[in-house]
Amino acid sequence: MTYKPTHSANLTNMSTDKKLILVFGATGRQGLPVIDALLAPCDDGTPTPYAVRAFTRDPSSERAQQLSNRGIECVKGSVEDFSSIQAALEGAYGVFVNTDTFAIGEQREIYANMRIFEIAKQTNTMRHYVFSGLNYALKLGAHNPEYMVDHFNSKGRFADWLQAQPSAVDDSALSWSVVNTCLYFEMLNHYLLAPLNKRTDGTYVFPSPVQDGHVALISLRDIGYFIRYTFDHRAETSAQTLDVAGELITWDDMVKTFAKVTGQPAVHKRQTFDDWWKNCTNVDSPVGDGSPTFKQIFTAFFKMWRDDVVVRDMEWIRSIHPKLQSVEDWMRENNYDGSVVESFRKAGQVDKRGVGVNIEQVIALVLCHIRRPAPDRARHARRHALLLYEFDDWKQICPHGEKDHAGLGRHRRAWRSMRRRMVNGSTFGDEGSGVAVVKCVF
Ligand SMILES: NC(=O)c1ccc[n+]([C@@H]2O[C@H](COP(=O)([O-])OP(=O)(O)OC[C@H]3O[C@@H](n4cnc5c(N)ncnc54)[C@H](OP(=O)(O)O)[C@@H]3O)[C@@H](O)[C@H]2O)c1
Repeated sequence: MTYKPTHSANLTNMSTDKKLILVFGATGRQGLPVIDALLAPCDDGTPTPYAVRAFTRDPSSERAQQLSNRGIECVKGSVEDFSSIQAALEGAYGVFVNTDTFAIGEQREIYANMRIFEIAKQTNTMRHYVFSGLNYALKLGAHNPEYMVDHFNSKGRFADWLQAQPSAVDDSALSWSVVNTCLYFEMLNHYLLAPLNKRTDGTYVFPSPVQDGHVALISLRDIGYFIRYTFDHRAETSAQTLDVAGELITWDDMVKTFAKVTGQPAVHKRQTFDDWWKNCTNVDSPVGDGSPTFKQIFTAFFKMWRDDVVVRDMEWIRSIHPKLQSVEDWMRENNYDGSVVESFRKAGQVDKRGVGVNIEQVIALVLCHIRRPAPDRARHARRHALLLYEFDDWKQICPHGEKDHAGLGRHRRAWRSMRRRMVNGSTFGDEGSGVAVVKCVF
C-alpha cells in the first residue's frame, strides 16, 4: 500500500509566503548561525525567501526564548521522538538537520537520522533535505580502528546510506544534500585547541598532539553561508556532498598566525597523547550512549587530523565562497588574543561533560622557572636561560631572527647536553651565576 500523507501540500509558510525550513539543533552553536544565514537578505538586498521553524527539546530554554523573541516559531520535540518530528515537519519546504552525537551517542544518532529522512520523505510539502555531516573517518582511514571518531563516523555512515536514497529536483519530490563541516574556529576558545598557558616571558603555549597533520577548521558564520548556499542551489547540490572548510592548516601555521595577528610570541608544544591528556581532568567519563570515553573519542579525533585522513579542496571551496574566512580573518574579526588562557586557570572549572583543565599540568607547560641572575651576569645567564627551553620551543620564539640561526647547531648540541643533566633543583653555569632550574618539565 502506498503511504498517503494527510496534510496539505503547501510549499511555503502560509502566513509569510516564504519557504519554511525546519532546523534541528536550532539552539546550538551551529544552528544559530545557520538560522542567521537563512534569514539574511539576499545578495541583491531583497528579503530572504525563507522562514525558520526551530526544533528544540525545550521551547522555554533561554536560547529558544531568544529565538521566539525574534519571531521564530519554536516547536518541542526530540530527534528520538518520531511523532514529534512528523508534527514539526508539517508544512515545511525544507529541513536542516544537525544532530548531536554527544547527547545521544553514535548508534542512536544513526537511527535517528535515518528516521528523520524517512519522515521527511513522507511529508508532502518537503522539497529539500540538508544534512550537516562530518566525514566518515573510519572508511577514509581504511577502517583502521585508530579512527573510531564517533561523531564523524555516525554522520558518515548515515550519509553513505543517504547516497542510496533518491534525490529528485521537481515540484513534487524531495532532494537531499550533505554539507560536511569540520572543527569550528570558535573551538580555539576551548581547552582542546586553545593556548593553555602563558609563560612568564609572555609566550603563549599551544599544546597539541597533531604534530605535522593538517586540521580543517571553519567559522560558524561560514557554515551558515554554505547551508544557505545549498538551499539556494537546490538543483546543483542535489545528491551532492559539499566538503567545506575555512582553512586546512598545520598547528605550526595556526600558531604562527596567532603570533602574527596578536604580535605575541607563541609556541606549538608538540605532545604525545599520554602527555597531552594530562592537560585535562576527568577525560575517562563516558560520552553519548556511554560506550566510548571522551578520551577515546578525542584521541581518535586528533589522530585523524595528525594522519591527514580528512582533507579539503580549498580551491573549490573558495570558488563557491570567495569571501571565505581564514583563521587569520577570524582571529582579527573576533579580536582573538589568547586571553582565554586566564579562564582555564580557574580551579574546578569543567564543561558540561565534566571535563576540565588540569591546572597543575598546564602551569608546568611553562617548562622552567629561572631565578633572576645578578645584573653583572645577565648576558651569561641569558644564554643559559635560553638553553633551559626545549630546543624547538626556543627556536620558535627566538627573538633575534634569522641571523642568529647560524648558531643553532651549536645551541642544539649544548641544549642536548644540558637537558641530560637537568633535574629539578639543579643549577647551571659558572659557580655563582645565579641561574638555577627551580622546576623543569619536558
Ligand atoms: N564542535 C565542533 O567544532 C563541531 C564541528 C562540526 C560539527 N559538530 C557537531 O555538531 C553537533 C553538536 O551541535 P552544536 O555544535 O551546535 O552543539 P551544541 O551547541 O551543544 O548544541 C546541541 C544542539 O542539539 C540539540 N539537541 C541535543 N539533543 C537533542 C535531542 N535529543 N533532540 C533534539 N535536539 C537535540 C540541542 O537542542 P535543545 O537543547 O534546544 O533541545 C542543541 O540545539 C555534534 O554532533 C558535533 O559532532 C561540532
